Amino acid sequence: MNRGLTPHYVNIIEWLSKDGIPLDGCDSNLIEMLEALARSGSVELHAGLTRDKLILIPSRDDFKLHLDLISSDCLWQVSRFAYMHFSDGVLVARSPIADCWLSVNDETVSEILYSLKLPSHLPASEPNDYVMNACRMLARAQIIVPCGSSGEPFEAHDPEYRQWDFHDLLFHSLSRLGRTTQRMGGVYAFRGEIEPLPAAKEHQWAGSFCALPRPDIPRLSQIDISLTTAIETRRSIRQYSIVPLSLEQLGEFLFRTVRTRYILPTAAGELLSRPYANGGGIYEQEFYVTIDACLDYPRGFYYYDHINHGLCLISYPTADMELLIDEASASAARAVRPQVVITIASRFHRLGWKYRGMAYATQLKNVGAIYQTMYLVATSMNVGGCALGIGNSDRLCRMTGEDYLVESSIGEFMLGRSL
Ligand SMILES: Cc1cc2nc3c(=O)[nH]c(=O)nc-3n(C[C@H](O)[C@H](O)[C@H](O)COP(=O)(O)O)c2cc1C
Repeated sequence: MNRGLTPHYVNIIEWLSKDGIPLDGCDSNLIEMLEALARSGSVELHAGLTRDKLILIPSRDDFKLHLDLISSDCLWQVSRFAYMHFSDGVLVARSPIADCWLSVNDETVSEILYSLKLPSHLPASEPNDYVMNACRMLARAQIIVPCGSSGEPFEAHDPEYRQWDFHDLLFHSLSRLGRTTQRMGGVYAFRGEIEPLPAAKEHQWAGSFCALPRPDIPRLSQIDISLTTAIETRRSIRQYSIVPLSLEQLGEFLFRTVRTRYILPTAAGELLSRPYANGGGIYEQEFYVTIDACLDYPRGFYYYDHINHGLCLISYPTADMELLIDEASASAARAVRPQVVITIASRFHRLGWKYRGMAYATQLKNVGAIYQTMYLVATSMNVGGCALGIGNSDRLCRMTGEDYLVESSIGEFMLGRSL
């Protein structure tokens, strides 16, 4: 008896379990059990009698075995969200919109994909042969998608899909729980293999260190505006006085926002404390200060020594520095020319050493915490400040000499004296 089964299910369970036993005529309990086993990785779903050619692997905990019969009448195309890469020894085809992915060990797949780079009919094959089963697997994993009457896949005109960039959706799907089987969180994957980076960055600019003025924090805590006033009056300021910021203002701003209060050695590497919150207490950021105009201080590009609270000169104005200022101005719709741009760079591996799956997402969240701290301090100091959403990471690398993969920029904040 074929209780609870639709023809679609029959088609998938005719495929093979991990042990190579063909299954057919199963009831719904068995299907549920199979789904649970597939989700746990105990059963693999294959596309043909030859094992390991194409394996479908669930990536979501609501994965169902449901497999639509696919139409050879309509056109199909490779999804713009699909990608292939090499992972843990296998070639993988996956998409952030799907609830499963494919392990690919068969060149037929690349032939199918190439034939569907533009809207096309499925490669001719018999209804239940390997190519057709492979197409069904590719469709199930949403590597290929059907085209509608417009001749384009749904994702080309559906507003829910159109407004997602491929890389954004991929990042979202893999940096949160739900669509990934990767171990997430503080797993210390490299402990014992790679040394964690120290809290203090080694750099070659210490010789040009110049201490910055420090604010009197106990006095400020007596006379400063209230937190409520700072929050309620905070706004982005894009109009500045023709008089530049003073060095005292710049020193106070950096001290109150991003200085290092102390370093805390732990068994899992050095942690730090700064005025803003930070994932894991790791404080992976470094700060570069581009001074276009500051009273009593030369124009130039500086490293902020957050431990000793001072600026180290990296270079006097260069073409890249002028372009960095110009890009900051463009980012603010050319409403203003910043007097100072603070570039937030990340030493990526400080976080990557501890966290998997969420390391980069955490770094971007940390930038949010920095921005808000900068906004509130700027408000309390009556200094004009504005977060910037875009900046050139390669340019920063050229200016610092750092490797793009090791330390590059992930945020910018501009400052100027208020009108
Ligand atoms: C992450 C982030 C990125 C931003 N990027 C820019 C930007 O590139 N250019 C700009 O002029 N303002 C930028 N802003 C400022 C916002 O435009 C501003 O916060 C928003 O319009 C609300 O206005 P308010 O800050 O005055 O309350 C950014 C703010 C944040 C938090």
